[in-house]
Amino acid sequence: MKVLIIYDTKYGNTKKVAELIGDGLKIVEENVIKIENVKEIDLNKDETYDLILIGSPNHMGSYTTNVKKFIKKLPNSLLKGKSFAVFDTYLGKDFEKVVKKMEKQINKVMPNLNKISPGLSIKVGGMKGPIVDEDLPKCKEFGINLTK
Ligand SMILES: Cc1cc2nc3c(=O)[nH]c(=O)nc-3n(C[C@H](O)[C@H](O)[C@H](O)COP(=O)(O)O)c2cc1C
Repeated sequence: MKVLIIYDTKYGNTKKVAELIGDGLKIVEENVIKIENVKEIDLNKDETYDLILIGSPNHMGSYTTNVKKFIKKLPNSLLKGKSFAVFDTYLGKDFEKVVKKMEKQINKVMPNLNKISPGLSIKVGGMKGPIVDEDLPKCKEFGINLTK
């Protein structure tokens, strides 16, 4: 499976979630994983992925402007995906708030992109992190489950 993991981050926690999900996906040796910051992604590159994962920190109850722009441009880009899943990091009571919003928006703009799994929502202990202990193992586990 060819997988693209895209993340946005301010303090590095969402990047860490992306990397741990990647570690989980790598339990299947044939999987090819590319992890990229949303600010650096080239939408004009003609590439097709079996799975695109998109991650964002929760910023005021929603996903970041960078991720919003990315999702908006994706339907008309050369970058193609067959299925998707999303992940977020949050502080406080916003469990799954951002993943639900991202899923809704992606379904709206790309109805043919198949949601392979419900989103992953990871809690951080403070504005700058770190990821709380009980959520840390969920990241790699999420990646492993995507291989099944
Ligand atoms: C501008 C801003 C707004 C935020 N608003 C929320 C919020 O509404 N709800 C929440 O749970 N966390 C909120 N947070 C906390 C972030 O979710 C937290 O900083 C983030 O998960 C850390 O991820 P990162 O290291 O990848 O940036 C906010 C953070 C910033 C910087």
